[in-house]
Amino acid sequence: MGRRNRKVEFVELDIESIGSEGVSVAKKDGMVYFCKRTVPGDKVKAKIIKKKKNYAEALLNKVIEPSKDRIEPKCKYFDYCGGCSWQIITYEDQLKWKAENVQSAFRHIGQIDFGEILPTLPSPREYHFRNKMEFTFGASRWMMPDEIENEEHIVNKNFGLGLHVPGRFDKIVDLSECLIQTEYANQWLDLIRNKALDWGITAHHARAHKGFLKNFVVRYSLLHDNYMIILITDEIYNNDEDDFVEWFLDTFENEYDKVVSVVHAENMKVTPTAYGKIKQIRGATHLEEEILGVKFKISPFSFFQTNPFQLNPFIGKALEMADLKKDEIVWDLYCGTGSITLPAASRCKEIIGIELIDSSIADAKKNAKANNIENVEFYCEDLHKKQIPELLNTLPRPDTVIIDPPRAGMHKYLLEHLLELEPKKIVYVSCNPSTQARDCQLLEDKYTIGDLQPVDLFPQTYHIENITVLELKPLICENV
Ligand SMILES: C[S@@+](CC[C@H](N)C(=O)[O-])C[C@H]1O[C@@H](n2cnc3c(N)ncnc32)[C@H](O)[C@@H]1O
Repeated sequence: MGRRNRKVEFVELDIESIGSEGVSVAKKDGMVYFCKRTVPGDKVKAKIIKKKKNYAEALLNKVIEPSKDRIEPKCKYFDYCGGCSWQIITYEDQLKWKAENVQSAFRHIGQIDFGEILPTLPSPREYHFRNKMEFTFGASRWMMPDEIENEEHIVNKNFGLGLHVPGRFDKIVDLSECLIQTEYANQWLDLIRNKALDWGITAHHARAHKGFLKNFVVRYSLLHDNYMIILITDEIYNNDEDDFVEWFLDTFENEYDKVVSVVHAENMKVTPTAYGKIKQIRGATHLEEEILGVKFKISPFSFFQTNPFQLNPFIGKALEMADLKKDEIVWDLYCGTGSITLPAASRCKEIIGIELIDSSIADAKKNAKANNIENVEFYCEDLHKKQIPELLNTLPRPDTVIIDPPRAGMHKYLLEHLLELEPKKIVYVSCNPSTQARDCQLLEDKYTIGDLQPVDLFPQTYHIENITVLELKPLICENV
């Protein structure tokens, strides 16, 4: 049967729980159904979009009877925007489900013995917590239901400034505010959009690869309560575009006390990343942030953790669990810009940070120098390459290894090498409990897995960080 003639199938579901990646789960007639944007306890009507022998994916069509735990989302764009899909769950329940998901990854994926699952460390802020927002300009704006109902309301169809519609790289939900960035920053989206529309400046078309405006990026420093504002565009082709950039730089430089740095960057590539070659900076070249007394310089495109309100509790908890000793050699693998390495340095004899991205290593080195931290070395290396054991063998042997890998987890070469190396302790920090559980299972032969400490850095989303400490098992002598 052709796609067009395929019958649309609906199903009524009683939502039971929330599984990995934040997708809710229901069971019916021997099938497991996955249905996003629903809450355990909801009775819903859902449209089946993919059906296999034992499971199906379904799209919420209607809430027939809401769960007693369902709450109204705060954000008016909730139904259209890709972020913050857990706003319909109370924050208390978000924390509970995050711990539940960490625990179930270790029980079911890894089938691992671990200490205890500890309560999720809550973020001090549930909204307005992000220190970096990358908004996109797009020439294909998502139409709102009232516009579609009344077509006369459709204006400026070819200009949007906001965030992507889930699963649609080309469609932009036009936003006037975003509840996870600071309240102060919410005054700028309409200002920029209105000016661009008044002057007829074009937004980038993600399919046709034309149009001038690409991204508007807001970065925030909690330490000084100030901002870096970045405009990313294509190359300037005409006077209007040139004037617009000048207006942008002048306005942000002069009219907002809290803005200390204004940047214009050009990105001529077709890739949609909010990154570009810096053409002009007005004011400061970087922001400054602090973690556990160590200062960090943040340049326009450098990585920094995105919830500054939770940084001290998060890194503090990782270091408390690591329980480093003053005579220890420590490695921090996947160290980024050193947000764990540098605060850890005062707690051990020597620490070595290794990371793939050279600009992160350059920032980490600068930050070490600026903070007069001398017992640290940084290396830029691919920890997943086959020859990595040879390089690691040239370094002082570690007592403790801290790892904070990307979502895909560790590579098996590195895991195998750690098993050979036998550090007394491995502190595993992860933003993906599933791959963390998989890696811990492989380390379980030689290591005991301690408590699991989920830490919430990303309220209103299913994302979670988890910390656990693995201790080398004492040698078992089989011949006694
Ligand atoms: C979750 S982040 C850790 C960030 C770091 N702890 C920090 O706070 O700055 C993971 C890091 O792993 C790095 N990375 C990814 N693949 C890598 C590889 N193959 N070798 C070394 N580092 C890698 C990324 O560049 C990123 O900085």
